[in-house]
Amino acid sequence: MSTNTLAGPDLVEGVALSQLGENSMLLGHAYGEPVILARRDNELFAISALCTHYGAPLVDGLLVGDTVRCPWHHACFSLRTGEALRAPALDPIACWRVELRSGSVYVREKLETVVGAPAPRMASTPASIVIIGGGAAGNAAAEMLRREHYAGRITMLSADESLPCDRPNLSKGYLAGGAPEESNLLRTAEFYKQRDIDVKLNARVVAIDTLSRNVRLEDGSRLDYGALLLATGAEPVGLEMPGADLPHVHYLRTLADSRALVNRALTSRRTVVIGASFIGLEVAASLRARSIDVHVVGREACPMERILGAQAGNFVRKLHEQHGVTFHLGTTATAIQERSVVLQNGERLDADLVVIGIGVRPAISLAERAGLAIDRGVTVDEYLATSVPGIFAAGDIARWPDPLTGERIRVEHWVVAERQGQTAARNMLGHRERFTSVPFFWTEQYDFGLAYVGHAERFDRVEIAGSLDQRDCTISYQRAGKKLAVAVIHRDLEGLRAEVEFERSLVANKLPDSS
Ligand SMILES: Cc1cc2nc3c(=O)[nH]c(=O)nc-3n(C[C@H](O)[C@H](O)[C@H](O)COP(=O)(O)OP(=O)(O)OC[C@H]3O[C@@H](n4cnc5c(N)ncnc54)[C@H](O)[C@@H]3O)c2cc1C
Ligand code: FES
Repeated sequence: MSTNTLAGPDLVEGVALSQLGENSMLLGHAYGEPVILARRDNELFAISALCTHYGAPLVDGLLVGDTVRCPWHHACFSLRTGEALRAPALDPIACWRVELRSGSVYVREKLETVVGAPAPRMASTPASIVIIGGGAAGNAAAEMLRREHYAGRITMLSADESLPCDRPNLSKGYLAGGAPEESNLLRTAEFYKQRDIDVKLNARVVAIDTLSRNVRLEDGSRLDYGALLLATGAEPVGLEMPGADLPHVHYLRTLADSRALVNRALTSRRTVVIGASFIGLEVAASLRARSIDVHVVGREACPMERILGAQAGNFVRKLHEQHGVTFHLGTTATAIQERSVVLQNGERLDADLVVIGIGVRPAISLAERAGLAIDRGVTVDEYLATSVPGIFAAGDIARWPDPLTGERIRVEHWVVAERQGQTAARNMLGHRERFTSVPFFWTEQYDFGLAYVGHAERFDRVEIAGSLDQRDCTISYQRAGKKLAVAVIHRDLEGLRAEVEFERSLVANKLPDSS
């Protein structure tokens, strides 16, 4: 949907209230823009029809309370103010005034974006905040601090050479050649300047002094902090074998990595991807879009079985095979040479490009050296506070108490990292907000999309409602009779409903405060 193809009635001219059922949405337009009328418990709202994340049609989403949730990646907007209440959307949607007259509803003038009053400065508000990490969590936290009217100094230190980027795009649209270079950055340099967020790039922190409250950078300089957010993300696991450091061997984490891969792909004819999980398979799909011959090598017998189960894993395998990918499963590479990759069984696969995607590990060495509690990630409580006062952690490094499973979990999902960054930001300002968001991730390979809600690290039962082959199904993952996660294939509303169902179960089984 774009503003060039306006659908539905002109809402300025008005529509009969009877056209708009209770708790429903109606797509139309007003003043040349696509607009949705929403009716909720006899209240009427007019909001922009397009999500500010990737432009999904919100009319296909779900009304929950006085919010609307996006069908694609589950952002959530206030119907009253348009505020982006939950990532991945970071910008609000527009709202219009609605008038009800003689049984008809009219959309009137656009409303000013409501900016809340500055929060009163509390004694505990830190004088300055340092964020280590310029990724999903770090960026979302910096933005949220200013949205919450934090007036102190914010410094974001990133080891990356680029401004915070849309990492999921790096293995999808950008690598496939469908999305331009500009689509990679989350924000412009001007954006941070306007908000007085000091972003330092190529700025690797090497030590945290938790007693004096300062961080030391690689160049020897030091920076004091009042509160600190650790959002150092994860690093690709390196493959140690002969030839792993050859110039045609690539990893994918940063924008620089993706750019290098795109450049190499321009002249590549045959790629071997080592690793058959999400990143490896998204890379395979994107390189096929460039008509490059792709072979995937994986230790597992069935790709993604551990996360999605055998049936969905086999479906994904078939999907790739239909697109011309050749799998070499149940094996591993033992050496990389200039024009080939050697497998365990001695087989030699031609390759002028090799991409390694065998997983990531959380970047916790800094936290470890600083003496923070660690448990296969940085241990945080439900407020995302670490074991050291004044230091919070968010994103791929954080292991938090998940109220759904009752277990401490750590995930590597974009939306979770952003939402944790936002919650940690508010908690650094003293809000005491629990992180209770239901985990969510998505993947896209070719024209196939899957969204996953919840978290099932282990499961003993998988139920599929609908048809995998028709690409129209809901897969639920259970352990000991309890539903832990739901994956949907081209059933966006089902995914949103599953999210709401998990949230309601959380409210019903409220966990006691650990503090
Ligand atoms: C190619 C790719 C595709 C993906 N696709 C999806 C997807 O489709 N869906 C999904 O849900 N998730 C996806 N993910 C995962 C998602 O991107 C991550 O979960 C998310 O980026 C984690 O955010 P983060 O802020 O914790 O870490 P990151 O975004 O990795 O940011 C970490 C930041 O910390 C910085 N840093 C690290 N150490 C230091 C240090 N010592 N000093 C200073 N700075 C430091 C880094 O430079 C970086 O700026 C994808 C990841 C990749 C790499
Ligand atoms: S398009 Fe709406 S959340 Fe991504």
